This record gives sequence, structure tokens and C-alpha cells, in this order.
Amino acid sequence: MRIVVPAETRPGERRVALTPDAVAPLVDSGHTVVVESGAGTWALAKDADYEAAGAEVQVGDVLTDAELVLHVRPLLPEQVQRLREGTATAGFVTGAGELPGIRALRDGRISALAMELIPRISRAQSMDALTSQALVAGYRCALEAATRLPRFFPLFMTAAGTVRPAKVLVLGAGVAGLQAIATAKRLGAVVEAYDVRPASADEVRSMGAAFLDLGLDAQEGSGGYAREMAADRARRQQEALAPHLAKADVVITTAAVPGRPAPLLVTADMLAGMPAGSVVVDLAAESGGNVEGSVAGQTTAVGDVQLVGMADAPSTLPVDASRLYAKNITSLLALGLSEDGFRLDLEDEIFDAACLAHDGVVRHAPTAKLLEEEQ
Ligand code: NAI
Repeated sequence: MRIVVPAETRPGERRVALTPDAVAPLVDSGHTVVVESGAGTWALAKDADYEAAGAEVQVGDVLTDAELVLHVRPLLPEQVQRLREGTATAGFVTGAGELPGIRALRDGRISALAMELIPRISRAQSMDALTSQALVAGYRCALEAATRLPRFFPLFMTAAGTVRPAKVLVLGAGVAGLQAIATAKRLGAVVEAYDVRPASADEVRSMGAAFLDLGLDAQEGSGGYAREMAADRARRQQEALAPHLAKADVVITTAAVPGRPAPLLVTADMLAGMPAGSVVVDLAAESGGNVEGSVAGQTTAVGDVQLVGMADAPSTLPVDASRLYAKNITSLLALGLSEDGFRLDLEDEIFDAACLAHDGVVRHAPTAKLLEEEQ
């Protein structure tokens, strides 16, 4: 099997789909691994490291002869068009603005495995790239807030006086939110958190943070995910959260609902009620934003508050994010790779769920619907 790893092309993307430590097992199993020269630069994986692990390093186009392509961010339509019919790909596939690439996958009869569609079942835990990358992102959000806040996170008792610890409020306590809580706690902040899923309360408390009970109904959807709030429920949540924001030095928002734009949790009025110098970090800025006015990749001053719209958060720690991602992707491939090649057994529930396109058909119903609506 000719397994290829192109350099990522999206601006700001610093990860690589396969790190040198993940190459050797593939080569030992008889596969050829081809890495585009420079693909691992930001992840501190040099061409020579890949070669030492048994990969071939190629300058320029690696896609034309590929049988299996490993990537992080969705392939561009012009990349997909270079692939031969029947080639398999694995990486993130969906997202706003990605329909042209998906159409190219369908029309080119490419078998596309989407990392974001891997089911969250225990057998697939080692493949769960949403989790590994959310962990990196949540950690990063807390650091971003700590470095921008013009005061300490921890309590200090010094001869010059006592410094009170910062108050951090985390909204959305999924994987990223829990990691933001853990990181803020390690830095010594006093942390409280809120999520619409009741199950998250115990997880928040187990991190040493307080869970806010806003007295609102739960919004639990299927598969352990949240469901979208109605406008009235959203407004009541905003009203109930406003007094907590008014006391917070830092707010970190990580709320998401699968397949929907991010819910708006913090309005401009709520920002205006925050203490001077406070910092708000919106991890959901790329998917619509949890905070009114946040722009992905930009930090804006809203009155006396700094509003940080996170962009490419996992890419800010490309070494570990890439290593974890490479482990996820090779665990997925192990389901189908053998000395005989790659077998995409759609009877397997993991491949069945993750395979977005195959044999000229978009198999993921919500994406197929979006394509239909666009035509
Ligand atoms: P996500 O990225 O889809 O959403 C982040 C968080 O935002 C979620 O906790 C969600 O409940 C919350 N949220 C949504 N709307 C909100 C609102 N209006 N206000 C406040 N919070 C809101 O979620 P993530 O991090 O992917 O986790 C989703 C679920 O999957 C969790 O139950 C998690 O424990 C579970 N999970 C299971 C795994 C497994 O079984 N292998 C692995 C990782 C996560």
C-alpha cells in the first residue's frame, strides 16, 4: 500500500497527519510511506526523521500515485482531483465551506474517512481525534487567558500583601472545557463552570471546580451530545449567567452542538457588565462564536474587556497535537490495513459511521442533504 502524507495547505495549520514515530509500524507491515518534504516542519519532524523511520520523502506532488492519503484539515478540491479513482483518504472532511471538496471526493469516487464521524464507542477511543484535539484546544484557551489577564491566576500571600486568585468561568464542559478547567486550576485560579448536560456536573466537580446550577432544564441530545436551545431557553440562560460574568476575571467558552452553529452564550450586554481588564476566550469563534462579536483569529477590545476569538487552537501546539492525531489515525487504519492492502469493511460500525463518501456516493446523510440543497 502506498500511504502518502501531503503537507497541510490551510493558512495557520501547523499539524501533520503522521509523525515519524507512527511511520515505522506501517513500514514494518510492508507498506510504503511517502511524506511530502517539509510536511512535519512545524511539528518538529524533519525530513531526515521520516527517512530514519523508513519513509520516503518527496518534494512536490505526492498525491498522484497515492493509494491511501492521510491528512489533517479537509483536502482542497484541486488536491482531490489529483487522486485516482478508488483511492482512500483519512482526515477531517466536513466544516463550513468544505462542500466543493466533498463534491470532488464523491465525483472522483474516492473513499473518504472522516475523523470527526468516528463513533464515540469504547472500541474507537484510541481513534477519537475530536477528543485529542479538543484536549489541546482547551489547554490552550486557559493559557491564552492567563497570559492576557493583567493579574495573577493564583493566590499569593506575600510580605507586600495578599493577591487574590483570579475567578475563571468556563461555559461548556465537554472535552475542551474540562481541560480548560484543569489547566486554570493548575494555575491556581478559582474556577466555576456551566454546561447544559447534567452529566457534566460531576465531571466539573471532579476537576475541583464548582458547577453552576442555573435552575434551567437540561438540553441533552443523542449520543451524549447537547441539543440546540430554543430562543427563549437561550435568553433565560444568558440572563442567569450574567451575574456570574459580572464577577469573573476570565470567561472561556467552548460550547458546541454537533452539526449546528455554536450557541450564543454571551451577549454584548453581558460583556459590558464584566470587570475592567477581564478576558473572554471564545473557542467556538470559528464555528459561529459563543460570544457576540468574536472573530476567529482576532483579539478585540470590547469596552474594558479583551475578547479573544480562537483560531486553529490545536495548531498552536503542533508537536503534541500531531503525535496524538497520528496515533488516532493509525489506530483507525489498523482496522483495515493488512499485508494485502487496505480493506474498507463497511460492515464494521466504525468504518460505516466514519466513511463519508465511497464509490461515488456521499454516505453521511446530513452532508448529502447539504450538497443537494446547494444544487
Ligand atoms: P462538543 O464539543 O460537542 O460540545 C462542547 C460542550 O458544549 C458539551 O459539553 C455541550 O454539552 C456543551 N454545550 C452545548 N450547548 C451549550 C450551551 N448552550 N450552554 C452550555 N454548554 C453547552 O462536546 P465534546 O467535548 O465533544 O463532548 C460531547 C460528549 O461526548 C460529552 O458527553 C463527552 O463526555 C462525550 N465524550 C465521549 C467520549 C467517548 O465515549 N469515547 C470521548 C469524548 C467525549
